[in-house]
Amino acid sequence: MFEFLKQYLKNPRSVGAIAPSSRMLAENMMKPVDFDRAACIVEYGPGTGVFTEELIRRKRPETALYIIERNNEFYRQIKEKYGELPKVRVIHGSAENTTRYLKKYGETSADYIVSGLPFTSLPKELSDRILADTQKAIGDDGVFVTFQYTRVKESYFKTFFDLTEKIHVKKNLPPAYVMVMRNKR
Ligand SMILES: C[S@@+](CC[C@H](N)C(=O)[O-])C[C@H]1O[C@@H](n2cnc3c(N)ncnc32)[C@H](O)[C@@H]1O
Repeated sequence: MFEFLKQYLKNPRSVGAIAPSSRMLAENMMKPVDFDRAACIVEYGPGTGVFTEELIRRKRPETALYIIERNNEFYRQIKEKYGELPKVRVIHGSAENTTRYLKKYGETSADYIVSGLPFTSLPKELSDRILADTQKAIGDDGVFVTFQYTRVKESYFKTFFDLTEKIHVKKNLPPAYVMVMRNKR
């Protein structure tokens, strides 16, 4: 908790929240994920690992999980905690390069991308690059799951994806929306 606040004070725009997400938000972020079907899952911006923990607990042993974190300290913590697990790769990098990372590890696409990124505070050009690369990474059948504290970015997301589901999670500080998206048909 203290580490999160410290990282927020150092990098407010890229961390984008003063505290980690709640367990209730993590549960709702997992709802759209069909763990029986998923062969490849990507997580953007794990922070201290609230969603990571759920992904690792629920995924099948053979499902590959790629975790991408840009912040040095969060990367170090996540790498130390999960970096040695089979089929789990912790990548120190940026979500805008996802297709490059997937290619490097021999994956053609991601079935699910679960994002903790703060799109409201990220620079627009960076968000554009991340979402364009996400479109490529999920291909025709993949699903992009993200959360936001407000609906201000909803129309922006819709310029890239079809919004297929929206879940309002009141038990989070602040309350959040889980948004589920797919590439436009
Ligand atoms: C709002 S925090 C969410 C952390 C965690 N998922 C949670 O919900 O508690 C945003 C996270 O995204 C990371 N981040 C920001 N920009 C990124 C990028 N371009 N690529 C990967 N991670 C990024 C931040 O370092 C931070 O860990």
